[in-house]
Amino acid sequence: MEIVEVKDKVFRRFISEEKIMKGVQEISTRINMDYKGKNPLLLAVLNGAFIFAADLIRELTIPCQISFVKYASYAGTRTTEDVKELIGLNEEINGRHIIVVEDIVDSGITMDHLLRDLNNYQPASVKLACFFLKPEAFIKSFNIDYLGMEIPNDFIVGYGLDYDGYGRNLPEIYKLEN
Ligand code: IMP
Ligand code: MG
Repeated sequence: MEIVEVKDKVFRRFISEEKIMKGVQEISTRINMDYKGKNPLLLAVLNGAFIFAADLIRELTIPCQISFVKYASYAGTRTTEDVKELIGLNEEINGRHIIVVEDIVDSGITMDHLLRDLNNYQPASVKLACFFLKPEAFIKSFNIDYLGMEIPNDFIVGYGLDYDGYGRNLPEIYKLEN
């Protein structure tokens, strides 16, 4: 489908499933090499990262575990400074090699908040695997260790990303038609 309607907005096809899968494979290849013998704990950020996390973990050949956290900073199509913790972290972080798995970094406010919280639990190391980055919107300074791709400052849906809860099921990425 070239055009889809999600809730009350129109989106146009933007990134193919094939390109996404190539990105996932590149990231998993690097993680498999970097974490040999390290038994990492993936920490996927709900809700958006659930599909990327599911694809990523099935490409990992090293022993690993996964857990989930949930933060929210988005209402409709606009980001806010008001980051709420919905599901917190727990002690199993202590001494573990953590790979945070996120769908998209926009302003970076949500991830900055999470990374700061995470360090209070004294992990052995923390790296970030994030599928999409909007460099034009990014206002923070943390490093993205494993990045799928950079995208323009447009609002996108699909591959786990939503508009008001809808559109996560789309296997490809669609961008808002202006
Ligand atoms: P940030 O705090 O501005 O970096 O926003 C990050 C969160 O906003 C992500 O985890 C997503 O849930 C959501 N988000 C940012 N950009 C988009 C988008 O283009 N489509 C859907 N959700 C987005
Ligand atoms: Mg998210």
